[in-house]
Amino acid sequence: MLPLNATELLALKNIIDSRQPNHGLPSQFYHDELLYRAEMEYIWRQGWLFAGHSCQIPNPGDYFLYEIEGDSIIVMRGDDRQVNALYNVCCHRGSVICKDSEGSLKRFICPYHQWTYDRNGRLLLHHGMQAGLDESTLGLHRVHAREVEGMLFISLAEQPTNFDPVYATIAPVARPQGMARARVARIMDFDVASNWKLVWENNRECYHCNVNHPQYIKANFDHYNADDTIPRVTERLKAVTTRLEAKLAAQGMSVRNETGMTEFPDPEHGIWYAANRTPLVEGYVSETLDGKQVAPLMGDYTDPDVGTLRVRTLPNFWVHASCDHSVAVRLTPNGLTHTNIRMIWLVDSQAEAGRDYDLEKLLPFWLLTAEQDWAICVNQQRGVSSHAYTPGPLSTYKEYNLDRFLRWYLQEMITALGI
Ligand code: FES
Ligand SMILES: [Fe+2]
Repeated sequence: MLPLNATELLALKNIIDSRQPNHGLPSQFYHDELLYRAEMEYIWRQGWLFAGHSCQIPNPGDYFLYEIEGDSIIVMRGDDRQVNALYNVCCHRGSVICKDSEGSLKRFICPYHQWTYDRNGRLLLHHGMQAGLDESTLGLHRVHAREVEGMLFISLAEQPTNFDPVYATIAPVARPQGMARARVARIMDFDVASNWKLVWENNRECYHCNVNHPQYIKANFDHYNADDTIPRVTERLKAVTTRLEAKLAAQGMSVRNETGMTEFPDPEHGIWYAANRTPLVEGYVSETLDGKQVAPLMGDYTDPDVGTLRVRTLPNFWVHASCDHSVAVRLTPNGLTHTNIRMIWLVDSQAEAGRDYDLEKLLPFWLLTAEQDWAICVNQQRGVSSHAYTPGPLSTYKEYNLDRFLRWYLQEMITALGI
C-alpha cells in the first residue's frame, strides 16, 4: 500500500482525529478500507504475532501454516530443533509449496516444478534448470520467529521491534505453567463477523460479564469494579489473595490483589505485552464449570491452587491458564468485518484423553465464554454498521482497559503515519 499520497494521509488523519476522548470509535474505524490496509501494514505486519504453541510441532519437520492477510507462513521445527518461520512461496515462479495446513516433512517439494528445499528453506534441487544458478539467493524467505515458554511468535517486519523485553516480561511468569511441555487437547477455529478491534474492545472490559458470562463470573473476581465491589467481596478477594500469596511465594510465583481487570495495555509507554497471575474465587482451582481440576497438573505445579495465569500480547493473542490446562486465543483479521479466531486448549504432555481428562469437562468453560463473546462482537459489528450509530461514552469504572486499548491503537497509527 505504501507510500500513501497526501490525500490518503489526510483521509486517515481525519478518521483518527474523529475519536472523542473516552468514547468508542466512530463507524469509519470499522468500515474504511484504506484504514484497514494501514492497520495491516503498520500494526499487523510490523508487530509480533502469536502463531501457535511449540507443542504443535514437537519433532523436526513438524509444521503448521499460519495464514494472515494473503500470506501463508510455514512455522516449522528445524533439524536443530529451533523453530523456523518461512514464507510458503516457491522461489521459482511463486507457487505455494505446502498445501496441507499442518503435517511433517523431510523436505519441501514445490508441487509445480518440484524445486526442493530443506527444512531450513535452502534450495537443494532444481532439475531442469541450467547450470550456474546461485542457490544461495533462491531459498525460502524467512520470517522472524521467537519462542517464549511454549508460545511461538512471528513478525513479518523486516526489522521487528526488540522482542527481548517481551521475553523478559512473559517468560518468568509463564514458565511454571509448562506450556512448552504440553500437548494439544483441542484446536477450534471460528470465523467471527466482526472487526478485529471490536474483538479486543470486548476482551478489554468485563462490564458485560455479569449478564453475558454466567459461568465466568462464578470463577473470577475481575467483573467487580471500584463502583460495585461491596465490602463482603473485598474481604473475599483479600482473603483468597493473602492465602495464595503466601503459598505461591514459596514457589517463586505471585498474585496481585486488585479490584477489576489488570490494567493493560499501557499506551503511554507503548507496552503491548503482559503476564500476570490472579486468584480464582475460593473453591475454584480451575476455570471449569464447577471449579474442579479436570486434567493432570501442568508444568512445575505441585498443587492445583495456583490461581490463573494470563498472558496477552497485542495485536492478536491472549491465554488463560489454570493448574491443569491453558486456553490460547489467536486473532487474525480477515477483512474489515471478519476475524478468524483460533482457540487452542493445552494439557500436560503426559495426559491422555479418556484416561486423564475428558473434553466434555475440559472445554465448556472457555468455549461457552468465547461463544458468548463472539456473539456479542457480531451484534456490535451489526450495530456500528448502522447509520444511526454514534459512539457513546465509556465507563471510567469498567471500561478503562478498553480506553487504554483504543489509545494504544491510535498512538500506533499516529506514530506510523507521522500525523
Ligand atoms: S513454482 Fe515452484 S518449482 Fe516452479
Ligand atoms: Fe466477554
